[in-house]
Amino acid sequence: MTISFPNGFTWGTATAAHQVEGGNWNNDWWEFEHTAGTGTTEPSGDACESFTRYPEDIAMLAGLGFGAYRFSLEWSRIEPEENEWSSAALDHYRRMITTCRDHGLLPVVTFHHFTNPRWVAADGGWANSAVVDRFARFCERAVVHLGDEIGMACTINEPNIVSLMGYLIGAFPPGQRDMAAYEQVNENLKAAHRKGYDAIKAGPGNFPVGSCVAMGDWWIPAGAEDALARTQHMHETQHLEVAAGDDFIGVQAYSRTRLDERGMPLGPEEGVETLDMGYEYWPQSLEVALRHAAAVTGSPIYVTENGIGTTDDAQRVRFVTDALEGVGRCLDDGIDVRGYFYWSLMDNFEWALGYMPRFGLIAVDRETQARSPKPSAHWLGEIARNNKLG
Ligand code: BGC
Repeated sequence: MTISFPNGFTWGTATAAHQVEGGNWNNDWWEFEHTAGTGTTEPSGDACESFTRYPEDIAMLAGLGFGAYRFSLEWSRIEPEENEWSSAALDHYRRMITTCRDHGLLPVVTFHHFTNPRWVAADGGWANSAVVDRFARFCERAVVHLGDEIGMACTINEPNIVSLMGYLIGAFPPGQRDMAAYEQVNENLKAAHRKGYDAIKAGPGNFPVGSCVAMGDWWIPAGAEDALARTQHMHETQHLEVAAGDDFIGVQAYSRTRLDERGMPLGPEEGVETLDMGYEYWPQSLEVALRHAAAVTGSPIYVTENGIGTTDDAQRVRFVTDALEGVGRCLDDGIDVRGYFYWSLMDNFEWALGYMPRFGLIAVDRETQARSPKPSAHWLGEIARNNKLG
């Protein structure tokens, strides 16, 4: 199958500060990694040392043929204590943005990717409604410093994963399992998206702003469609609805969720291949997610994350090929998909699972930090260069 992507289609890769920078000791994740009983496998430590090695990383990304880099700001560096602002940290992110521009890459800035400063977490984190104004103030400060050079911005990465994993499953900070807290946190996240969005739009620069929602393919036994609609709304659709009318919606898809007739999670289907993350190999999830996001929001769409954690690089190529064919079918049907960001530029810290899952197009030697592009990096870079698959 040959797919020619529309002119101006954006090709990039994504990372997040805590997963690649290293030394982010002043946030809730670092604390969680160092607390017994949280279920995390190893601490993030120096990660990929991308805080200092970003010039090399950005140059490599551009050299491979990509046109955009999505990365996140580390709030705990920029506002290490409440209302104390670090110009040095803001200057650092400004240099990253400038480095992208120097290499012809569109800098796509995520304002929040899973981590909170320790002072925010200590005062209730996402469960305390004070977080809404705190997040908006952070956006306002950061955009004043960076906005004139930003290419595109995401407010909060996967708000639905922040609430689900942090407050219902308990595998992310603060490690709670509490339905009432989960619901409150979803409300706060939605309000923070809205206020953060307005704060970013009010600042310097004129670039698209949106939200990035974790999505997937949902399955339930026939006859239980009501339970599916309820469950999907709670875990996914409410965060699309609150973002309708934004400049774009970011779709992030990895796998499939199977539910029993009551809407409770079932785990992988027998006979379906599973991955190191524990979930099903399910590249078709992206197409389903794009169609749902388009139906709910009507907004232009960017695939802000799609990828696979595997040590089999040929499997990565197969996965992305299948996923991109789904993007092609959506484009044929008139769905306004404007870009694709592979997760991730390099192998990095996969949260509670540590460094085991390998999502990167580039391998990182854990001893020497040496970077080595995998065959998939050259393969996807060529697709980006030609704006064409096959
Ligand atoms: C997150 C990333 C994560 C990736 C792979 C997404 O949920 O935004 O931080 O590494 O999926 O699991």
